[in-house]
Amino acid sequence: MSDKKTIIRSVGAYLPARILGNEELARTVDTSDEWIVQRTGIRQRHIAAEGENTSDLAAAAGRKAMENAGLEIGDVDLIIVATTTPDMTFPATAAVVQQKLGMHHGAAFDIQAVCSGFVYAVATADSYLKNGLGKRALVIGAETASRILDWDDRTTCVLFGDGAGAAVMELGKPGEDRGVLATALRSDGHFWNKLYTDGGPSSTRSMGHIRMEGKEVFKHAVGMITDVVYKVLEDTGHTIDDLDWFVPHQANKRIIDGAGVKLGLPPEKVVVTVDRHANTSAASVPLALNTAVADGRIKRGDLVMIEAMGGGFTWGASLIRW
Ligand code: UT7
Repeated sequence: MSDKKTIIRSVGAYLPARILGNEELARTVDTSDEWIVQRTGIRQRHIAAEGENTSDLAAAAGRKAMENAGLEIGDVDLIIVATTTPDMTFPATAAVVQQKLGMHHGAAFDIQAVCSGFVYAVATADSYLKNGLGKRALVIGAETASRILDWDDRTTCVLFGDGAGAAVMELGKPGEDRGVLATALRSDGHFWNKLYTDGGPSSTRSMGHIRMEGKEVFKHAVGMITDVVYKVLEDTGHTIDDLDWFVPHQANKRIIDGAGVKLGLPPEKVVVTVDRHANTSAASVPLALNTAVADGRIKRGDLVMIEAMGGGFTWGASLIRW
């Protein structure tokens, strides 16, 4: 196993053109802009166009990440797509992305850890590359959550959006003091029925829609998030004060604020995009990373904590020296 660290060389993102604001949504379901903003912080979400699939969003974000690194598809030998909304039951959406990017070599597979998918994918790519199984990975979180929403269920349809974010990961140079420092991944399947789709190939032979006991998820979220954050800090000998940026999963502004307060993080170190993107599940963390890199907040050398929590329940955090 290499003693080198896996670095995130670049990030990229893609959001579908159509923006659905709260007011517009309130014309079709019994809700209001006021309720959504007050309870979630969400003001709008992007919605994929008819015929625009998760693989299209993923490929667009992947292309952007490669472009930002000055790389081409021939330079990548692993594609991981974290998604809960695959184009098809099989093959993996990563295989379709591979075809769309014109890649014939290497390996491609999906990761299903719902909203924690990107953190799981970063951990997987980190281990894969450190163990010499590949040289460079395109790690993508991509979702068309709009396709599995029950648009008549106001308790869920106001919460989610579509989008994709991607990162190019590779081994750093010997002695380079940056990269993924530590990751903690957790799941507890006893909570699966608190957040799930009421269908699937093996159970109902259909796709199902998102069902959630929102209060139950909320109740556990802050504790689970802070546990894994403390774990990676402890594993690396860092403290909360060392963090330059906290890039959380974007499900609900109240959960983000709750975690921030419990951790003792100043709000100006917390990256928030839930107001513009809503909850994009596996895409939310890379979309937020891309936002903060693109606007110049996250810079080389910064200490960045990413975290997520969602269906399963799954949760996890990763500490990255950028
Ligand atoms: O990615 C990880 C997965 N997801 C999450 O992290 C989500 C976690 N949960 C949450 O974010 C929150 O629980 C929600 C935003 C889903 C709900 O917020 P809440 O403060 O827990 O509200 P609630 O479920 O207790 O509902 C309060 C009221 C209810 O009415 P009554 O019973 O008090 O009359 C709901 O029927 O709000 C009503 N309500 C709505 N009203 C207007 C629920 N949804 C809506 C809506 N518009 N969209």
